[in-house]
Amino acid sequence: MNQTDNNLVAIENLFKEFVISGSFLDEITFEKGKLIRKRETVKAVNGVNMNIAQGEALCVVGESGCGKTTIGRLVMGLLQPTRGSIHYAGQRIDDLSRDQLIPYRRKMQMIFQNPYASLNPRKTVNYTLSEPVAYHFPELNKSERAEKVAEVMESVGISPKWGDRFPHEFSGGQRQRISIARALTVDPEFIVADEPISALDVSIQAQVLNLLMDAQEQRKLTYLFITHDLSVVEHFGTRVAVMYLGTLCEFGETKKVFSQPKHPYTKALLSAIPKIRTTESKHIKLNGEVPTPINLPSGCVFHGRCPHATDICKQQIPELDSSDSTHRVACHAIAEGRI
Ligand SMILES: Nc1ncnc2c1ncn2[C@@H]1O[C@H](COP(=O)(O)OP(=O)(O)OP(=O)(O)O)[C@@H](O)[C@H]1O
Ligand SMILES: [Mg+2]
Repeated sequence: MNQTDNNLVAIENLFKEFVISGSFLDEITFEKGKLIRKRETVKAVNGVNMNIAQGEALCVVGESGCGKTTIGRLVMGLLQPTRGSIHYAGQRIDDLSRDQLIPYRRKMQMIFQNPYASLNPRKTVNYTLSEPVAYHFPELNKSERAEKVAEVMESVGISPKWGDRFPHEFSGGQRQRISIARALTVDPEFIVADEPISALDVSIQAQVLNLLMDAQEQRKLTYLFITHDLSVVEHFGTRVAVMYLGTLCEFGETKKVFSQPKHPYTKALLSAIPKIRTTESKHIKLNGEVPTPINLPSGCVFHGRCPHATDICKQQIPELDSSDSTHRVACHAIAEGRI
């Protein structure tokens, strides 16, 4: 979609299913004299097309379980897609071997939600930060390595004097700064940040967000930024991808999507925030339950909760329209001019 030379990451027709029915034997049942194999899968990502431009901060939003983390992990090569492809700087990366992935392990880094879980409690900060440098830059000697680590620590606001300390000696915000430093020490180009501030105290969320924005500017980073928090998107995101049940329902420049949301789901999502809500719009309450990704609804995955759904919505999966590449929406009602 919207392939330009400026794309760093291109995700095409991406699917991820998790098998949850257990082993082969668990899947076999005996019905009416016949052996039947029943495979149960969670359809976490269903046909996502998305490109991430060099230097941007693309935010992915949507309610819990809609597949945000799965997309991040797929892009990082931590999960194997069921179908589809991922290209990085023009090179297909989803089918590479472990060895072939090594250069990308340096260029692409991930920051997780929980700094408590993502840092090894038994290693000092110096060790945690030096290890990836030693691996990816074997040409550096010990003092050059220490210098690089000290520089990055300084840049995230952690004094290099504290390098001999262990993660538990730091506060939550400091620990997240250390995880950010760990991602930055190897000079990455692209960072997947999965809810990097949501586990932190509200009072320090803005500081850590600013740190990520400064790092982006200074190091010309590209972000895939996963978040629940729409005010963060408004602040930080160049573009926003709105997801519902593993599909993209709206994708475009943040300003456009926020000022003129098109998809009924995006409208409901944005209307929940008083600050963003425009004067004429009221809080839109969605009826119905979020369907499970085990039994995905036919057609548009949102049709069961959509006030504008008609037969076509129940039967056909809507595609992102291509009339305006800066603001795209996947909705039959909009395509047919009904809303
Ligand atoms: N390893 C797994 N095995 C089985 N199901 C999984 C696995 N990982 C994720 N899922 C399921 O895939 C769906 C998408 O999960 P994902 O973690 O990507 O959602 P999310 O949008 O990141 O949610 P949250 O906002 O809560 O972090 C969910 O239904 C989840 O239960
Ligand atoms: Mg998640």
